[in-house]
Amino acid sequence: MSDAEEIPKNIVLIGFMGSGKSTVGRDLHQRLGYPLVDMDQTIERAEGRKIAAIFAQEGEAVFRDMETALLQKLAAPGGDRTIISTGGGVVARAENRELLRRLGYVVWLDAPLELIDERTGKSRDRPLLNDGKRDEKIRSLLEQRRPWYRETAHLRVDVADLECHEVATGILESARYFFARS
Ligand code: S3P
Repeated sequence: MSDAEEIPKNIVLIGFMGSGKSTVGRDLHQRLGYPLVDMDQTIERAEGRKIAAIFAQEGEAVFRDMETALLQKLAAPGGDRTIISTGGGVVARAENRELLRRLGYVVWLDAPLELIDERTGKSRDRPLLNDGKRDEKIRSLLEQRRPWYRETAHLRVDVADLECHEVATGILESARYFFARS
């Protein structure tokens, strides 16, 4: 039996902040008709406050616990045919990396530093990038996390020169192949 046979037919998007997970997730949701779970939004809705507030009031570790609890819920038997877009730091815990692999076809949207810098510079919604020295922070987090993204993903997509729609098309084709393999 292959890996693919045991894995639910979810598509899970991982990658650094600003790599396009939410936008590509919405595109896949529209084209496939599968429900979309944006983990950041789901946590914000359940908590009734923004992620920045959770970080400020309770610290990063509490937010990471919320991510793990949500992954466990999503990985419960019966979950299938859902698009799941994650927060960029979800791979920081080994437990999460294992849950992600069990959850579906995991796709890493790999964006270069310059693109991340450009896209994340427009908003103040990301608490990890808000306290000055953005460049340094992005660089060090990227260096730390890249091995985790690589280890967790079934597929890596270099998004540097692609429109979100093109990224989604590539994912659709490879997911079809992945799930059809036996
Ligand atoms: C985080 C990324 C954010 C959000 C939180 C922490 C991170 O999600 O989960 O601010 O640690 O990289 P996006 O990747 O959607 O920005």
